[in-house]
Amino acid sequence: MTTPIISQKSPYAVEVEEGKSYFWCSCGKSSKQTFCDGSHKDTGMTPVKYTADASKRVFFCGCKHSSKQPMCDGAHSKL
Ligand code: FES
Ligand code: FES
Repeated sequence: MTTPIISQKSPYAVEVEEGKSYFWCSCGKSSKQTFCDGSHKDTGMTPVKYTADASKRVFFCGCKHSSKQPMCDGAHSKL
């Protein structure tokens, strides 16, 4: 599998905490979107680590087609 599953065609808004690391699901199979739950096993895909530089609200890509992973870059609007 090389094409990720589209989890949703919109970003996930998440309040992140400064200094905390998050593992964004790149494959779309996780049942704990938008984060990895280990379901990428056998897909050849791996999660993308994100470390928050400040406590704030960020928008993680839900469609898994962003070129600025793990963040949404608007690519979902063309799917
Ligand atoms: Fe999708 Fe881990 S479950 S990257
Ligand atoms: Fe994937 Fe916006 S949700 S680019």
